[in-house]
Amino acid sequence: MPITSWKVGAGNTAYAMPSTLDPRLIADLRAMRRVVVFTGAGMSAESGIPTFRDRLSGLWAHTDPMEIATPWAFRADPQRVWDWHVLLAGAVCTAAPNAGHAAIAALEQAGLEVTVITQNIDDLHRRAGSREVIELHGNLLRLTSFVDEEAAFAAASPTICRVCDGYAVWEHCDPWAERGDLAAIGLRAGPVPRCPGCGALLRPDVVWFGEPLAVDAIEAAWNAVDRCEALIAVGASLEVEPAASLPWRALARGARVIEVNPAPTALAAECHAAIRGAAAEVLPELFARIWPTRC
Ligand code: APR
Repeated sequence: MPITSWKVGAGNTAYAMPSTLDPRLIADLRAMRRVVVFTGAGMSAESGIPTFRDRLSGLWAHTDPMEIATPWAFRADPQRVWDWHVLLAGAVCTAAPNAGHAAIAALEQAGLEVTVITQNIDDLHRRAGSREVIELHGNLLRLTSFVDEEAAFAAASPTICRVCDGYAVWEHCDPWAERGDLAAIGLRAGPVPRCPGCGALLRPDVVWFGEPLAVDAIEAAWNAVDRCEALIAVGASLEVEPAASLPWRALARGARVIEVNPAPTALAAECHAAIRGAAAEVLPELFARIWPTRC
């Protein structure tokens, strides 16, 4: 997708190409050492993983997320939800990090303090070499046990399984089961697996609609945003909270904020620069322009 430069935004933002960024902004950014890169599904689009909300190709264009990505959907039809995630895992496992992921990892390796805060569940930032990665919405390829809140709280004193740390389904956990038995189970086609210790159904360790984010993940994200001098928001529609608030929080705290997206969001009108283009094309060029000695 070509990088295009076009109009002046409603706020103080001019849509820019990396080559037309305001030299004063570049000078500011060049002096900065603490950078957050905040990413959404568009970051992995050029790796072949579909986004969620793109009108034609997005996952939610063909599937109602309420039927596939909520705890209630899993409770009602675990096999359907499992099978859908297995298909997505197929796309994730065959995907490779793109030039954008690589550019972010290279920036960290060049000595900047880079924290990646991602909504993506595909692990491509880590596979590209980024070390400081906060996965706000979990990781598709990791499994956890499904906590059926209704059943758990109906029991007089629910047992916690020592293998999966969830509410045990069987009255007595299997004394021979080990954590390693659980780790060996993957997101593969077939019947929904169960925890070998307690019989609880297993599910991908991702955050579905209606579920809270892991407290340590969102706290780490807030800390990184509050410390950063610059935040670059890439490929995120900013429609899902609390992740969507992070770029705004950085702006409010005085950080320089840049958006990279072929379809600018509301942030574009308020941030310091909005670059209309695809992540894999824009990021290597953008970083080379801002930090030429490090890229
Ligand atoms: N480069 C950069 N951005 C792109 C590209 C690309 N090649 N292609 C598409 N985009 C942009 C789109 O314009 C859109 O703004 O990526 C964004 C994708 O938006 P969503 O599909 O809504 O994905 P995301 O913002 O990550 O969704 C947030 O919603 O369904 C939940 O849990 C899911 O983490 C996800 C959350």
